[in-house]
This record gives sequence, C-alpha cells and structure tokens, in this order.
Amino acid sequence: MGSFCFLFPYLAFHLFLLMLLTLFTSYTFSMCKHHDSSALLQFKNSFFINTSSQPGFWSHCSSFSFKTESWKTGTDCCEWDGVTCDIMYDYVIGLDLSCNNLNGELAANSTIFQLKHLQQLNLAFNDFFGSSVHAGIGDLVKLTHLNLSNTGISGNISSTISHLSKLVSLDLSSYSYWNMEQKLELGPLTWKKLILNATNLRELHLNTVDISLIRERSLSLLRNLSSSLVALDLSITGLQENFPSYGKLPLSNWSTPLRYLDLSYTAFSDEIPYSIGNLKYLTHLGLSNCNFYAVLPLSLWNLTQLTKLDLSTNNFSGEIPPLYYFQTSHTSLPLVLEIITSTV
Ligand SMILES: *[C@@H]1O[C@H](CO)[C@@H](O)[C@H](O)[C@H]1NC(C)=O
Ligand SMILES: *[C@@H]1O[C@H](CO)[C@@H](O)[C@H](O)[C@H]1NC(C)=O
Ligand SMILES: *[C@@H]1O[C@H](CO)[C@@H](O)[C@H](O)[C@H]1NC(C)=O
Ligand SMILES: *[C@@H]1O[C@H](CO)[C@@H](O)[C@H](O)[C@H]1NC(C)=O
Ligand SMILES: *[C@@H]1O[C@H](CO)[C@@H](O)[C@H](O)[C@H]1NC(C)=O
Ligand SMILES: *[C@@H]1O[C@H](CO)[C@@H](O)[C@H](O)[C@H]1NC(C)=O
Ligand SMILES: *[C@@H]1O[C@H](CO)[C@@H](O)[C@H](O)[C@H]1NC(C)=O
Ligand SMILES: *[C@@H]1O[C@H](CO)[C@@H](O)[C@H](O)[C@H]1NC(C)=O
Repeated sequence: MGSFCFLFPYLAFHLFLLMLLTLFTSYTFSMCKHHDSSALLQFKNSFFINTSSQPGFWSHCSSFSFKTESWKTGTDCCEWDGVTCDIMYDYVIGLDLSCNNLNGELAANSTIFQLKHLQQLNLAFNDFFGSSVHAGIGDLVKLTHLNLSNTGISGNISSTISHLSKLVSLDLSSYSYWNMEQKLELGPLTWKKLILNATNLRELHLNTVDISLIRERSLSLLRNLSSSLVALDLSITGLQENFPSYGKLPLSNWSTPLRYLDLSYTAFSDEIPYSIGNLKYLTHLGLSNCNFYAVLPLSLWNLTQLTKLDLSTNNFSGEIPPLYYFQTSHTSLPLVLEIITSTV
C-alpha cells in the first residue's frame, strides 16, 4: 500500500509527460489525413495534364493554373496548391482546380467522392468531356459550393445531388459551347428535391442545362428560396418549352436580394410584370430571346442598381420608356448601364 502511494505521483508524472509529447508531435507534424492525400493523388493521376499547352482562343482561362504540379507523394497535402484543410482536424475541406487543364473522365468511382469533408469544390474550366455527374456527388453532403461549370460534363445529373442540403452556390453552367447533343439534364424530380432540400441556396447557375421537363408548379418552388437567392441563371435551359400556358415570370411579388437574373433564350412569353420593380437590387437582368410582349413596365426604371439590361429579340410593343426618365431616376451614379434593345 505504501509503495503504491509512492508510485502513483511518479506514474502520473510520466503520463503527463507522455501526453505533452503526443500533443507536441501532433501539433508539429500535423499532416493532411493520409487517406485524403492518397485520394487526391489518385484523382490527379486519373487525368492527363499537358503542362506545356496554353488555353485556346475560346477558353475563359487566361492561363492554366497547374496547381496539381505541387502535389507530391510524401508531402503534406494541406500545403498543396488548390487544397484547403480544416485547421483543427486536417481533413481536406476545399479544392479549387479551376483552369488546371485536367483532361479525362470524371469516373463514377473517382476518388474525389471519398473526400467526405469537402465544403468547396471548384473544377470549372477543365475537360471531362462526356462524363456525367455521378451518384457519388451525393456523398459530399458537406458541400456548400459546387462549381462544375464548363467542364464538358453531360447526361442526366444524378438525383443524389439533392442530398447536398448545405449548398449555398451551385454552378453547372456552360458557356463555352452550346452543344445540345452533349447537354446536361436536370430532371423534374431531382430539381424538386434539390430546391426543397438546399434551403440556403444563394446562387444557382444552370445556363445550358436542360430543365425543359420542369413544370410551372415545380419552378415556382423557387419562391421558397426567394429570401436567400442572389443569383439565378436559367438561360438556354429549354425552360418553359413544355408549359401549357403562357409563361409568367415566376417572380411576381418577389421581394428578394436577387442581384443577377438571366432568363434569356427561354420561352417566357408573358408581359414583364410591374412587380419586377420590387427586385431593386438587380444589377444584371437578361431577358433576351424570349417571347415577351406588351409594353415595358415603367417600374423597370426603378431598378437603379442595373448595370446590364438585355431586352433584345422579344415582341415588345411601343417605345422603350425614354432613357432620360431612367437616368433622372438614377440619382446614385456612377452608373455604367448597358442596355441592349435591338429589335425591341
Ligand atoms: C502538349 O501541348 C503542346 C503545346 O500545345 C503540344 O505541342 C503537345 O503535343 C501536347 N502534348 C501531348 C502529349 O498532347
Ligand atoms: C475505377 O474503375 C475502373 C474500371 O471501371 C478501374 O480501372 C479503376 O481502377 C477504378 N478506379 C478506382 C480508383 O477504383
Ligand atoms: C435522362 O433521363 C430521362 C428520363 O429519366 C431520359 O428520357 C433521358 O434519355 C436521359 N438522358 C440521358 C442523356 O441519359
Ligand atoms: C436532404 O439532405 C439530407 C442531408 O444530406 C439527406 O439525408 C436527404 O436524403 C436529402 N433529401 C432528399 C429528398 O434528397
Ligand atoms: C465558378 O468558377 C469559375 C472559375 O473559377 C468562376 O469564374 C465562376 O464565377 C464560378 N461560379 C460561381 C457561381 O462562383
Ligand atoms: C414552400 O413555400 C410554400 C409557399 O410559400 C409553402 O407553403 C411550403 O410549405 C414551402 N415548402 C417547403 C418544403 O418549405
Ligand atoms: C401580389 O400582391 C398583391 C398585393 O399584395 C396581390 O393582390 C396579388 O394577388 C399578388 N400576386 C401574386 C401572384 O401572388
Ligand atoms: C417605382 O417608383 C415610384 C416612385 O419612385 C413608385 O411610385 C412606384 O411604386 C415604384 N414601383 C415599384 C414597382 O417599385
């Protein structure tokens, strides 16, 4: 008993030293999780990356980033270019490889889908030509930002995308080419589940994604997001093609923080509602190549933040309300307004 009393403080002291040492090593040798590191390397190796090529004339990349060049086996992946780690736990939470010149298939079994802690994923402007958005995307439930714009992906978007309930920004747009043979399709059921689950969505860019099967009732679910939505791009989506009635803009009485709205090349064919004047934060309004008719509502000129207004190729009647009226209502200059009104 006596010897135990003697031993106890001695043991406790050693235990304390051991704890200190563990803390110290885990702090100094903090490394990206081994699993994440190998998933990233396998992801990189599944593509061909030509580091001597330059972006083509039509590319939106001014240069390629080639961030993956800094990815080497045996080094801390939290230090790699394009990779962001959680400071506490060292798992990968962010990956930005936009304009990295990744060429190849984004396969269904891609190791990217193993990075379960990812919050931000940007693979924009790479070439995964012909790949689709696989079911694995639904495993990345922590994603707040997903950007797969201009990656050449096509086909049906997996319905598991609706598992991404934390999404704040989703960009699946493609403006490099309008190859309708190779389009992405977002089905009506997936749309509905996504819009109802991703209640924090602020940015939705679906330019050239085929959503033509979405009906009016499903479209109006956007109203549930109206207090958060800042950017909505549904241009060239085939939207409205299958609506039975004249398409009314789904934004009557919206009073939202919306700053960017593009519905160009959709078949909306109603008049522009007077209530568009409620969208007072709009800076970009694209309504070209629809079938809007009737007289432009004067409330349009209440949109004092507008810097781009595209009304071209519609069936408006009458005159555009005179520009001076518009300018006098814009007291908070400087204003750089580009109004495109050919064949109004
Ligand atoms: C890589 O790009 C360069 C420059 O465009 C080109 O000359 C070369 O053939 C490409 N390499 C491969 C393997 O495609
Ligand atoms: C993915 O599947 C293909 C065959 O379909 C296989 O060759 C490849 O090794 C698999 N990749 C991984 C990371 O499991
Ligand atoms: C996508 O799914 C729809 C219906 O589920 C089907 O009609 C269409 O052919 C599919 N498209 C592709 C590219 O697989
Ligand atoms: C909504 O998101 C949660 C969390 O990811 C998921 O468990 C659920 O299945 C999703 N619901 C739908 C309808 O996709
Ligand atoms: C997606 O990424 C591209 C390239 O980095 C960028 O230009 C674009 O603005 C991003 N989209 C969103 C919604 O942030
Ligand atoms: C969507 O909004 C409508 C009307 O504002 C509301 O009745 C409905 O409960 C909302 N749906 C969900 C799933 O939040
Ligand atoms: C818009 O609001 C007005 C007045 O608040 C109301 O009379 C009208 O029914 C509303 N329209 C829609 C489409 O909700
Ligand atoms: C536009 O502004 C005028 C006065 O500045 C106001 O009377 C009108 O109600 C506004 N309309 C809208 C739709 O906000």
